[in-house]
Amino acid sequence: MASEDFSGNYMEKARGSKGVADFFPGRVVEFRQPADGVFEFLTDNGVLLRVSLVCDGVVRFRFTPEGRFEDDFSYALDPNYQPVVPEHEVVEFGDGVAIKTGSLSIRVNRSGLKTTVTDTNTGTILSQDDKGYHWQDNKQYGGEIVKMSKVCQSEEYFYGLGDKSCDLNLRGRRFQMWGSDTYAYTPDTDPLYKNIPFYISLCKGTAHGIFFDNTFRTSFDLGAESPDVTSFFSQGGEMNYYFIHGPEPLDVIRRYTRLTGLVNMPALWTLGYHQCKWSYYPEAVVRGIADGFRSRRIPCDALYLDIDYMDGYRCFTWDAERFPEPKKMIADLEKDGFKTVAIIDPGLKIDPEYPVWQEAYEKGYFCRRQDGSLFKGSVWPGLCHFPDFTHPEVRDWWAGLFHNLIAETGVRGIWNDMNEPAVFEEGTFPRDVRHNYDGHPCSHRKAHNVYGMQMVRATQEGLRRSGNGRRTFSITRSAYAGTQRFACAWTGDNVASWEHLSIANLQCQRLASCGMSFIGSDVGGFIETPSAELYLRWVQLAVFHPFFRTHSSGDHGEQEPWSFDKKTTERVRDAIEFRYQLLPTIYTTFRQYVRDGTPMLRSLPFVDFKNPDAYWRSAEFFFGDHIYVVPIMEEGEEGRFLYLPKGDWFAYHDDSHPKAVAKDIWIECPLDRIPVFVRSGAIIPHWPVQQYVGEIEHPEPELRIWTKNGEETSEWYEDDGDGQAWRDGGYRESRIHLKGSAGHLNLHREWQGHWEPGYETIHLTFCGINSEEPDIKVVIDDHEQRAVRGDDGRYRVNTHKNFYSVNLEWKPAKAPSTKPSARQSQPEK
Ligand code: NOJ
Repeated sequence: MASEDFSGNYMEKARGSKGVADFFPGRVVEFRQPADGVFEFLTDNGVLLRVSLVCDGVVRFRFTPEGRFEDDFSYALDPNYQPVVPEHEVVEFGDGVAIKTGSLSIRVNRSGLKTTVTDTNTGTILSQDDKGYHWQDNKQYGGEIVKMSKVCQSEEYFYGLGDKSCDLNLRGRRFQMWGSDTYAYTPDTDPLYKNIPFYISLCKGTAHGIFFDNTFRTSFDLGAESPDVTSFFSQGGEMNYYFIHGPEPLDVIRRYTRLTGLVNMPALWTLGYHQCKWSYYPEAVVRGIADGFRSRRIPCDALYLDIDYMDGYRCFTWDAERFPEPKKMIADLEKDGFKTVAIIDPGLKIDPEYPVWQEAYEKGYFCRRQDGSLFKGSVWPGLCHFPDFTHPEVRDWWAGLFHNLIAETGVRGIWNDMNEPAVFEEGTFPRDVRHNYDGHPCSHRKAHNVYGMQMVRATQEGLRRSGNGRRTFSITRSAYAGTQRFACAWTGDNVASWEHLSIANLQCQRLASCGMSFIGSDVGGFIETPSAELYLRWVQLAVFHPFFRTHSSGDHGEQEPWSFDKKTTERVRDAIEFRYQLLPTIYTTFRQYVRDGTPMLRSLPFVDFKNPDAYWRSAEFFFGDHIYVVPIMEEGEEGRFLYLPKGDWFAYHDDSHPKAVAKDIWIECPLDRIPVFVRSGAIIPHWPVQQYVGEIEHPEPELRIWTKNGEETSEWYEDDGDGQAWRDGGYRESRIHLKGSAGHLNLHREWQGHWEPGYETIHLTFCGINSEEPDIKVVIDDHEQRAVRGDDGRYRVNTHKNFYSVNLEWKPAKAPSTKPSARQSQPEK
């Protein structure tokens, strides 16, 4: 591994000072346009650059020193994505060629193939090559070590790169992509499990992204070695990258996500609370955990089976003693509202008596070393062989293996573990292991970073085939760019420490900004035992993580919501109930991710991007359009300074209305909850608390509406919560426009889709109304009603499912309430 690590100094290597020469492209001798929006430049050294206008705002750059390209193949790109080449014009000038679209101008210099991208409208330089493309011959393996270096502007900052555990802003650091099993990682551990070679640059309020679609071990230097240079390079393959325009950071993320794949709507239950441990067994223990939830009235939707459900860790088998009747157990759990999720690993025990191994062996589905022998490595079952998931026939076979587990036995989700791939002896496969790579045979050097992705692709297909039309649910530890199309993810083997709580916050935000919004951490920490307070604070944060699961390793004590003291159990219950109340909002935010690729967790620098003060902030984040979350990540912290972005905010729980914005304000944060703010004018859909999704057949929604002097728009998405009807308009997607002024609020609702709600009544709750009147006038679709004031100062009225307009009038009280966010009481149930 050492020879490939490239942990040394990039510039030294780039200069060839270790005795290896760098090559440069030379001078352009031919310029051609082989297709609409495609431009090629050939140099006197035989180097070819192809610039492709992928769609508005996305430009692909592809270089080869061979004068011609290999087959164009990528696992990252979404095959369903249908980009439209933007209108453009080409201007040739003495020194080079400029390709202009409405938003971007790409200039290629004839000397050295250096490129510059500018904003067509403002003329601002967005990205400019420093050395540009260059390479070294790879003497050891053949091919080239390909490199790109760009000018790093003095006020340019970087985000993204998927699975990194450090602060969000990556400026001045260096990273690698080489999926690794990193038990008990730290903020400095790199690489981690997932490989997302995509970063976002933010410079004076303007953002762009670079997606380096190369699956070999890649490295990124974001102004570390030289503050003036950003570089990315790889141990093999092509220099093949996409420039992704903003100008806003969320635009960059949306474009990247559309390129690498929009996701499907998840089953609603997958957004509930999940309980996991390594491992719950035998059956009686699993049933006991289920009872533990229901008897304490703590909501939960899924229970997990870790590796000990299997017979000697053989995938697709059951331990007959521990689980004599899995089908019955799963059916009973299901009746009680629990879905069962089971783990699967890629390693298959070498055992001639084991039919799964036998079949794969006979059909030649296992990975081989370069000289033809099968690759063997140890994982939980002892020595294993490993399927080559980059072979389409192997994926097809793997998908078929799930029939029993899913269709016959009733398992509802699959948890894909150890798929970096992890092997006990050497960490992962040796580099010479061969892969099919969908008909592009290669070594593990090229396939390593996509192995896990191809496993979960096959698993998802298995779930789809056997799932009877249900939405698939699959979890992965490893990923390459685009894996969001196949699975949700968790952040691996973390530790029960306050530092790791903060890491979980960073990782989830960061993965969300790299197309992987359906993300969560092992709540409470996988390794070691959290204190009651740490566990509570983690749960309170994870209410806002799309994947919400407690998981811990068996050797480290109990980690169920009731494993601490009574008060903690109550507070954890409150937090989980809060999650269930917010499910319609979480679902709506998920819908935006499905529809547009908008991340569900939105880091502060991406929303407050005009404000350089926000660029180094990592803790606070937005959940969806209107909720601002302030995690508490220190022991004993009963108050903290928090940054409240510019705007008009209400404290979610008590409608207090802090006036100080765009600076740090002090806020009390007792153990009851973490601070959460709502944008004024927001409409946040809620549900009543359920013990699991579906407990109430047609929950009556409550829309909480926060007043505003001005206008705001909110979305609200509803559908069946499972099944495929949503794909054909089987949903109701409401947009509600709010317009308010002193003593007056108007809502106008319109929706798309043909889904019919099963409920009749919607509850409207008006928050932050500055009035003391016991009831106030509300006209809903031309019918006059009274909204009644509760003890909490909120006004409530009921209406019918198809309401489209609301007019509220009140007499403003003399002294408006402007108390800073205060200590708050129990969340409303
Ligand atoms: C490693 C995974 O990261 C962990 O979550 C799991 O519990 C163990 N493998 C055992 O399967």
